[in-house]
Amino acid sequence: MRAFICGFGTIGQSVARVIKEKQDFFSKRYGETLTLVGALDSKTYISDPNGLDADAIIKAKKETGKVGNKDYKDIKDALESVDFEILIEVTSTNIETGGAGLENIRYALENGKDVVTANKGPLALKFKELTDLADKHDRYLLFEGTVGGAMPIINLNKYDLAGQKIKSIRGIFNGTCNYILTKMDDGQPFEQALKEAQQQGYAETDPTNDVEGYDSACKVVILANSIFGRNATLDDVEITGITSINSDAVALAQNNGMVIRLIGEVSPTKLEVAPRLIPRGHPLSLPGTLNTAEIITEYAGPITVSGVGAGGLETASAILSDIIDIMDERIGD
Ligand SMILES: NC(=O)c1ccc[n+]([C@@H]2O[C@H](COP(=O)([O-])OP(=O)(O)OC[C@H]3O[C@@H](n4cnc5c(N)ncnc54)[C@H](OP(=O)(O)O)[C@@H]3O)[C@@H](O)[C@H]2O)c1
Repeated sequence: MRAFICGFGTIGQSVARVIKEKQDFFSKRYGETLTLVGALDSKTYISDPNGLDADAIIKAKKETGKVGNKDYKDIKDALESVDFEILIEVTSTNIETGGAGLENIRYALENGKDVVTANKGPLALKFKELTDLADKHDRYLLFEGTVGGAMPIINLNKYDLAGQKIKSIRGIFNGTCNYILTKMDDGQPFEQALKEAQQQGYAETDPTNDVEGYDSACKVVILANSIFGRNATLDDVEITGITSINSDAVALAQNNGMVIRLIGEVSPTKLEVAPRLIPRGHPLSLPGTLNTAEIITEYAGPITVSGVGAGGLETASAILSDIIDIMDERIGD
């Protein structure tokens, strides 16, 4: 099988590296490999039906800022330059319009490609349209990496908890906010904690999507639609961010054995992101940048998972599991 990586930043480069490192694994499991035949960034692309060398294109991107030597005006020209079966869509997230990712996913599904993505925007805005499109064309659209980075949650529900009613999911879905709130537990005011998060590379220069709760809300929408079968969009989520939390509120919580965490909550009737008081020691009181989710199930009771919510190889780990899912179905293991 052949893959094309759309978006060649942190995640795209990590996926290229993982595909290269897993060649023996693919050969042993399927008797054939997964070949990377194309990659593009915002301006250029490179493709070769015989396969690309991941190290060479990562080096070129780092040295020149370009993944390829061919410029494109219409992204379709890049995608049509070579035959492939799996599109890995990891361009930048745009939660207002869906951005290039929305167009790329539509194009791929309509043209017979399976899609793996970590891009939240298209799924938070157009989940039903895209999953209907995938069904119509008998294609896979898999998106484990959109929620919680490396933390398995969508596939955990799909496979290990298959058949069970999921009563609710509550979780920490934004490592940046959790980092800020943890620093506030240590006595830092919000502004200083945010500045430190930016210096550490956890928060963007414009942190609005994180601190106002929109990023967590995207994940809530994706969980609601994929696990609870809802037809929600971002507009359906009640969202409160962490910008109004001050040191007094954090101290008051601490005096009562609690911490404040930004919690996303999904159930058949609820879609909410808001700061919550969590008892110290509870799984949702986790400090630092990790993501965590508590799934309340029909038979298994509460199940808690946590993991690294961001990072190149960590998110590539989720993308790899989706790629394997597709290869298992298309080739058989
Ligand atoms: N980073 C994480 O830890 C993480 C975790 C989970 C999910 N994600 C999601 O994964 C995706 C990629 O994240 P990232 O961290 O790799 O971002 P990134 O480093 O900023 O890379 C984004 C890539 O997309 C390309 N791009 C942007 N606009 C484009 C357009 N209109 N057409 C084609 N290519 C375009 C950029 O091109 P240039 O290189 O030319 O600028 C760049 O190569 C995002 O949707 C993000 O939300 C990221």
